[in-house]
Amino acid sequence: MEAVISADAQARAALFQPFVSRNLTLPNRIVMSPMGRAHAQGGRPHEDYAGYFRRRIEGGVSLAITGAAAVGHDLADYDGTGPIFHGEAPLDGWAHVLRAVHEAGGMLMPQLWHTGAARHVDAFTDKSAMGPSGYTIADLDAGRGPSATAMTEADMAAVAHAFADAASAAKARGFDGVEVHAGHGFLLDQFLWSGTNRRRDDYGGNAANRARFPAEVIAACRAATGPDFPILLRISQFKIDAYEARIAETPEELGELLRPLATAGADILHCSQREAWEPAFEGSPLNLAGWAKRLTGLPTIAVGSVGLAGLFTEEEAATPGAALPGVSLERLDQVAAMLARGEFDLLSVGRSLLADAQWANKVREGRDGELRALDLAALTTLT
Ligand SMILES: Cc1cc2nc3c(=O)[nH]c(=O)nc-3n(C[C@H](O)[C@H](O)[C@H](O)COP(=O)(O)O)c2cc1C
Repeated sequence: MEAVISADAQARAALFQPFVSRNLTLPNRIVMSPMGRAHAQGGRPHEDYAGYFRRRIEGGVSLAITGAAAVGHDLADYDGTGPIFHGEAPLDGWAHVLRAVHEAGGMLMPQLWHTGAARHVDAFTDKSAMGPSGYTIADLDAGRGPSATAMTEADMAAVAHAFADAASAAKARGFDGVEVHAGHGFLLDQFLWSGTNRRRDDYGGNAANRARFPAEVIAACRAATGPDFPILLRISQFKIDAYEARIAETPEELGELLRPLATAGADILHCSQREAWEPAFEGSPLNLAGWAKRLTGLPTIAVGSVGLAGLFTEEEAATPGAALPGVSLERLDQVAAMLARGEFDLLSVGRSLLADAQWANKVREGRDGELRALDLAALTTLT
C-alpha cells in the first residue's frame, strides 16, 4: 500500500530541499537568523561562538548569519559590547568560528552593520551619532529636532567605503558571503524610511532617492568582492523602537525601493517580519519576502516567530517573571506551505534555534514533541 503523505508533511519536506541560486548552493532552506549576542572583548567574538554556531550547523542549519557586527567607521558601533567586523584582532577572532562552521559542513556570513542615529551615544566618549537627517526615533516621538548629525556626502562615501572594506575582508578570510543590514531602524534603514530621511537632496524624497545610498553601499560591496560573492540584504518595515513604521506603504513603493538595491548587486533579500505568516499589504496573503521576490525576481528569505507560541515583546521582556513564549509548530506548516508554493526561498529561524540547537533536525524528522522551549539561559548565554 502506498504511504499517504499529508499536505503538512509535504510542505515541511520543502524546507529540506536544496537551494540553488546564481552563486549560492545550500543543502536545505533553514538559515540561522542574525542575532547579536554581545559576548565580545575589544570587538573580538567570545571563544564560545565557535561551539555555539557549530552546534546549530550540526543541528541541521545550512547557513548561519552572525549577529550584527559594526563596520570600520568611527560611528558605526551600537554600544561597544558586541563583536565587530574590522581590524586585525577582531577579524582574527572570527577565524576559529568560521573554521568550526566549515568543519561541521555549514556556511557562515557576517552581518555588516552601521547603527547611524540609533547609536547608543552614552556608551562612547565621543557622544556622537549621525544619520540621513540626524533624527532618532526618540526625536520623532518627542516631536523635537534632530539630536544626531545629518550626514554629508563625504560621510556617506566614508561609510560606503567601510562596508566595502568589511565585505572585502569577509571574502579574503573565506566567509561564504555577507549580509548588509538595512533593517530594524539602523543607518541604511534610516535612509529607506521617510520618517528618518528628511533630506531634500538626491538621497531623500521619493523611494528611488531613499534607496540611493543603500544601493551605493551594495554597489561598493559588489565592486570590492567581484561578481560572484554572495551579498544578502536585510530589510524590514518595522523599526526596533517603532513597530508600526513602514518603508513602503504599497507594493509599488516597495518595488521602487528594492529594484535599485537589486540592480546594485544584492543577491538575496532577507525580509524581516515579527511574524512570518503576516501579509505585508492588504489584499494579498503574500508576506514581505513574498512581495520582495515577486517585485525583484531575487530569491528571498522569510523570518518571524517560527516555532514559537507568541511574540515576547520588549515590554514583556522588561516585566519581571514574564513567561517566555513556548514551542508551537502550528504556524510552521503554514509558513512551510508558503515556501513550498515558491512564494519565498529560505526560512530564517532565530529564537527557536537559541532554544534548541537541534531544532532543524527535529523538525525534519517530525520529532516535534522533543523540541526544547526557550529559557532565559538560552537568551543570555552562548549555549
Ligand atoms: C537576541 C536577539 C538578537 C538579535 N540581533 C539581531 C541582529 O543583530 N541583527 C538582525 O538583523 N536581527 C537581529 N535579531 C532579530 C532576529 O534575526 C530575527 O529576525 C527575530 O528574532 C525574529 O525571528 P525569531 O522569531 O525566529 O526569533 C535578534 C533577535 C534576538 C532574539
